Amino acid sequence: MLIMKKEENSIYFVTGNKNKFSEALEVFTKERVPYDLKQKDIDTMEIQAETLKDVALFKLNSVKPKITNSFFIEDAGFFVDIPLNGFPGVYSSYVLKTIGNDGILKLIDEYEGSKAHFSAIISLYFKPLDSIIFFEGYISGRVSRDMRGEGGFGFDPIFIPDSIPDKTFAELSIHRKNRISHRGQAIKKLILFLKKNH
Ligand code: IMP
Repeated sequence: MLIMKKEENSIYFVTGNKNKFSEALEVFTKERVPYDLKQKDIDTMEIQAETLKDVALFKLNSVKPKITNSFFIEDAGFFVDIPLNGFPGVYSSYVLKTIGNDGILKLIDEYEGSKAHFSAIISLYFKPLDSIIFFEGYISGRVSRDMRGEGGFGFDPIFIPDSIPDKTFAELSIHRKNRISHRGQAIKKLILFLKKNH
């Protein structure tokens, strides 16, 4: 058991995305994690790189000098494997801002048999061990024919997970999305680590 001072019992999720934070908080609360999860919205430097891991590591190092506690960041990507060969992937943010979900649906043009997935990578700076650790999550599914659902964010209205084949992510509660999602999985791995190393 690592001995920690009281102020070190907080862990920061560095994100400007309220939805991501709500999803993480839901799992942290349910799993009774021995850390207080706090949101920190500070500017991070984004690079365009080939893999989510490269993006995550660069971002983590850009934030590290600004935070004294343990913290983590999370990077996700939406990959339309068929018929778009993985696009938008690491360009997800840019594509959502430019052509949006509508644009993706137009590109796919009601293609039958699409395959898609989300990947997420959490990079944690864990102060007690002065180390960086990665946790990954993945979920497969397909692209919906149209946008459905009011919940979630980003590509949620057009993603149908294989394990709940009649609903888009945007039609699921935070709890149901977390049980299967890329982010939910990565957060659960992070929590396992935090519990083991407390
Ligand atoms: P980020 O760089 O990790 O914030 O994510 C890249 C893009 O994917 C952003 O436009 C997000 O809105 C979107 N995104 C990330 N995670 C999810 C998710 O769980 N559902 C839907 N869209 C997401």
